[in-house]
Amino acid sequence: MITPKHHIFVCTSCRPDGTQKGFCAAQGARGLLGAFMDEIDDRELSGGVMLTNTGCFGICDKGPVAVVYPEGVWYGGLDDDAARRIVEEHIEGGAPVEDLRI
Ligand code: FES
Repeated sequence: MITPKHHIFVCTSCRPDGTQKGFCAAQGARGLLGAFMDEIDDRELSGGVMLTNTGCFGICDKGPVAVVYPEGVWYGGLDDDAARRIVEEHIEGGAPVEDLRI
C-alpha cells in the first residue's frame, strides 16, 4: 500500500446513490477534479499525492471546496487555476495558498 505524502479531497457533491448533485458540482467541481489530476500527473507527483472526490462538506456557499491533508488546509471558491496553484505552491512548495484558504 502506498502511503501518500499529501491527500487532496475535492467535493464533487457526490451523493450516496452515486449521483453528483449540489453546489460544488454545479460550479464545475468535476472539471476541478480533472484539473487537479492533470497537475499531479504533469508534475509526476502521483506517487506521493492521493486525490479523492467526496460528498458535501456542508459549506456549500464556499464551494467548490477542497481539503489538503495532512495539514488540514481548507480551500474554497476554486477553479482550474486554483488547482494549479495549490499543487505548485502547497504540494510542491510546502506553503498553503493563503488567499484561497477558508
Ligand atoms: S456541495 Fe460541496 S461543500 Fe456542499
